[in-house]
Parts: sequence; structure tokens; C-alpha cells
Amino acid sequence: MKDRIIIFDTTLRDGEQSPGASMTRDEKLRIAHALERMKVDVIEAGFPAASRGDFESVYAVAGAIKNSTVCGLARALDNDVDRAGEAIAPAARGRIHTFIATSPIHMQQKLRMSPDEVVSQAVHAVKRARDFTDDVEFSPEDAGRSELDFLCRIIEAAINAGATTINIPDTVGYNVPEQFGATIRHLIENIPNSDRAIFSVHCHNDLGLAVANSLSAVRNGARQVECTINGLGERAGNAALEEIVMALKTRTDSYELEVGIDSTQIVPCSKLVSTITGFAVQPNKAIVGANAFAHESGIHQDGVLKSRETYEIMLAQDVGWGSNRMVLGKHSGRAAFRARLHELGVSFSNDEEFNLAFNRFKDLADKKHEIFDEDLQALVSEASADIQEDIVKLVFMQVCSETGKIPEARLTLDIRGQEEKGKAKGDGPVDAAFKAIESVTHSGANLQLYSVNNITSGTDSQGEVTVRLEKNGRIVNGQGADVDIVVASAKAYIHALNRLEVDYNRIHPQV
Ligand code: KIV
Ligand code: ZN
Repeated sequence: MKDRIIIFDTTLRDGEQSPGASMTRDEKLRIAHALERMKVDVIEAGFPAASRGDFESVYAVAGAIKNSTVCGLARALDNDVDRAGEAIAPAARGRIHTFIATSPIHMQQKLRMSPDEVVSQAVHAVKRARDFTDDVEFSPEDAGRSELDFLCRIIEAAINAGATTINIPDTVGYNVPEQFGATIRHLIENIPNSDRAIFSVHCHNDLGLAVANSLSAVRNGARQVECTINGLGERAGNAALEEIVMALKTRTDSYELEVGIDSTQIVPCSKLVSTITGFAVQPNKAIVGANAFAHESGIHQDGVLKSRETYEIMLAQDVGWGSNRMVLGKHSGRAAFRARLHELGVSFSNDEEFNLAFNRFKDLADKKHEIFDEDLQALVSEASADIQEDIVKLVFMQVCSETGKIPEARLTLDIRGQEEKGKAKGDGPVDAAFKAIESVTHSGANLQLYSVNNITSGTDSQGEVTVRLEKNGRIVNGQGADVDIVVASAKAYIHALNRLEVDYNRIHPQV
């Protein structure tokens, strides 16, 4: 029998650490359901000690997910471990992932602790975590820059204390494949009790080597890979799940390893994560980029038509391309709408929420003939944004754009229940709309990013807009979708403004 690779997805935790990618509880639930459908083995749902909201998200995911292990992150501190233990309590299978830094620079500069103190704190945290669950993962943070002898010492102690998975993070993406693989082999061969734990890797992409380093580790004995959808994550991101999975599946001749992932769920899940976080996928991104299976040159097209294998090493359908069938239309009723959303992992806590989403669906179906899963996901994101106590809401907008004239926007916003009107001219219709919003809200936020994507193909597709705003060092993303991209842009801007208003006193786990 082939060995099996455990796929540990940390989109909801490390992915969420990308500036502006923070997610609400409901958004996390939707992604968690998509990961479960994909048959991900472990879902790291968040860092429960970060804030009450983070705790509630992990708790909700733990209660909802039945077929994947749900994991909560904890620094090697009593309160963190206890919060993680409480948050994963409802899970069918729950894991605590505790960590402490082990590199000289982190121990001296960040922790200001001696190596002996670090070992005893790690042992204490692992033991405490075992009081909550038998499934405990330990990570020596910045292992990629830690001394091998010290790593052997702390890992042996963590396994003796009860850790069942040992994760080796290349926290700053400093390692290169041959060396990282050799590190994993060295640890497995030199730690006397290494056979009592599964070795895992967690690679960051600062040098663009996260996937290569992870695969090198796999060749050298690692049996769990930590990764994220679309490679989302702190700074340059983490190893991309879709690339790891498809490399292992496409090259079984080379790796001879099994992965339990249903790869047909990859593209839908990638689209969901990009809709929710507002992080667009670059067109030439492997597996999930819009061009990943597109052939432009005549010679390539000719070859593919004669025999697909001439230029394609994977089937587009195997990773979920082309699965965006028309799911609902103008005549679909409430039951069909509810059933399809249920399949997508969306449930409603009350009739008001459901009715709001259904009304939005009917409005959209009037404008757009065919409604795809991606449309439904965007629609639900908007409906749930409406349910939250948004301070600013768009009531009405009119934008005039005519050749040879300066575009002008007029709008009415509802601000804490009071209607206020604004107008502005701009360099283009979107610029005019944003200035009109600012003429009412005076937020003073800096626009850092504006991007538009079509949700599905065709000119009747909804435009999905992401707006990133920065104010006083805080960065937030807002999303909006509409068949009219100027309206989508205004919705995205207002969504970001509302997010700026929410009080986010979250602790970052690694700072
Ligand atoms: O990059 C890192 O070191 C981490 C740890 C918390 C595992 O994300
Ligand atoms: Zn990380």
C-alpha cells in the first residue's frame, strides 16, 4: 500500500493573516464546508485566543464540520491552549496546534527566553493540550533557521510530552529544496522517538519555493503538508494546496504517494476563497488561473485538438474547470434556491436572512439569465453583509458618463438610519462614484487597490469588485458584485468602509 499524505489546510488561519483577508464567522463556515467537500484531512480554522470573534469562528467550524479534523492554533501559553481546547470541543475530531519559536534570533530578540525555558514551555503546552484532545501538533516556529541539534532536543521532548504531529515551519521562506529535504530526513533519522509522530511541513513562499520545499520534504519522509487555497498567507503566502495536490496526483509515478483530495472541488473552492477575501487569482497561476488550461498559440491549439496530451498534463475537468453549470434561473423557486445553497454549505439562521437572500436572487435573475454557483456565492456574501449592522448602506446611485463630458455621480447613502445625499465629478464613472461616497462619509481612507473580475464568462456576467482601503495602519478589503460594474464598485467601497468601522482588536499569533 502507498503511503498517504495528510493535507492540512490553513487558509482560515495563515491565509487570514494576509493583510485585508480577515473573514467573518459565516465566511469561514462557507470555506470550511468547501474544504470538507474537497476531503481536506485537517482544517486549521483559526487562532481562538486572538479575539472573541476568532474564538466563535473556530467553535462554529468545529460544530459544523463532520468529515475533516478541525484544528485551533495556540501559542505555547496556558490561556491560548485553553481557548483552543474550548473552541474545538464540539468537533467530531479536534486538534490543538501549539507552537513556540526555536531559532536563535527569535528566542533572543522576540521571546527573550533561554533555550531551556523554550523547551520547558513547549513541553508544558503540549501536556496541557493533551488534557483537551489526543490529537496535538507541535511546531518549532522558524525551524528553517533553527539549529538542528536544538530542534532534535525540543522535538524529542514534545513527542514525549504527547505531541502526535511535529510540524516543521519555514516561517520566513528562507530554505531551499535540497537543504529543507535534508533537514526533514535528519530530524526523522536522529530523533529517537520520531516514529511516534507524523512529520509535517509548513512552507512560506518568500523565495517562491514553498511548493518545491514541501515536495522535497515529502520525498524525505514528511507525511503532512500544510498549505492554503490559492497560496494565500502571511506575506508572499504559503504553499498552494492545488499545486501540492496536483503535483502528487499527476506524478504518482515519481512520488508513489496517495492523497485523499477530491480534485474536482479545487477550482470552485479557489473561486470561493477569492470572492470572500477579495484576493484575485493571477491568470497564469498554476491549476486555478484563468489561463492554466488555455492555449493561445496556433501550434499549441492544433496539437491539443489532435491529441490533448501534446500540451496538457492534466484534465481541466479533473480540477473542476467547466463545472460551473447553470444551476438556477428566473423560474427557480424558494425550495430550489434553499437546496442549492445548502449544498454549497450556506444555511440561514432565520427567515429574515433567507428572504433577503432570496429577494436578491430574484432581482439578479431578472437581470441575468443564468445563475451559476459563483453568482450565488457572491449574492450570499452581499446578503450577509447587509444583515450585519452596517453603518453605511447604498440606497440609490445615478452615474452619468458620456463621451466628451466629465462623469458625475449622485447618490443617497443611509448612514446609521439617516439618509444623506452626495454628488461628485470624477476622472471616470468609478472615480466619480467613490468621490461621491467620500463627499458624504468623509472617511479619509486611502484607496490601496481596486480590481474588477467577471464572476462567470459572458458579457452578462456580474462584475466582482475588490476595494482595499487603509486607514491608520489598518487594511481592509471590501467586495461588491453586480451586473453593473459601477454599482459593484460602489458596493465594494462601502463594504470596505463598513469593515474599517468594525473594532478589530485581534492579537497576531506570531508578533
Ligand atoms: O509560519 C509559521 O511558522 C506558522 C506557525 C504558527 C506554524 O504559521
Ligand atoms: Zn505560517
